[in-house]
Amino acid sequence: MPCETIDLLVCATCRKSAPANPDEDPASDIRPGAELVQALQDAAPDGLRVIAVDCLSNCSRGCTIALRKPGAWTYVYGNLNPETHLPTILEGAQKYRDAENGLVPWRERPEHFRKNCIARIPPLEAPDVT
Ligand code: FES
Repeated sequence: MPCETIDLLVCATCRKSAPANPDEDPASDIRPGAELVQALQDAAPDGLRVIAVDCLSNCSRGCTIALRKPGAWTYVYGNLNPETHLPTILEGAQKYRDAENGLVPWRERPEHFRKNCIARIPPLEAPDVT
């Protein structure tokens, strides 16, 4: 049975997004991470709780998100762009929400998720993680 609500953690402090936007103003006060938080909060469907966090320790490959839910693997993804990756993030989050243990079959993951998974972390409840 799918989890009703999952967490989408979004680094609000990322200064870098991918692909780099050549028009990006490096002196801008608005960080790409903060833009991504706002865009996802505006677009998130029911069942997806967007939580802004300060730094997921993936600063050189931002923007960065993590997906988590009880009893499931947690996944961290990077190299995201607030202007181009919203559909990818929402698609990946929905598949994660619907997958038992958070394990979405490799071929069913969005291509960007397949190529930009920074880490996966076993569930807290996992008795054996070998
Ligand atoms: S500032 Fe976003 S991961 Fe560190």
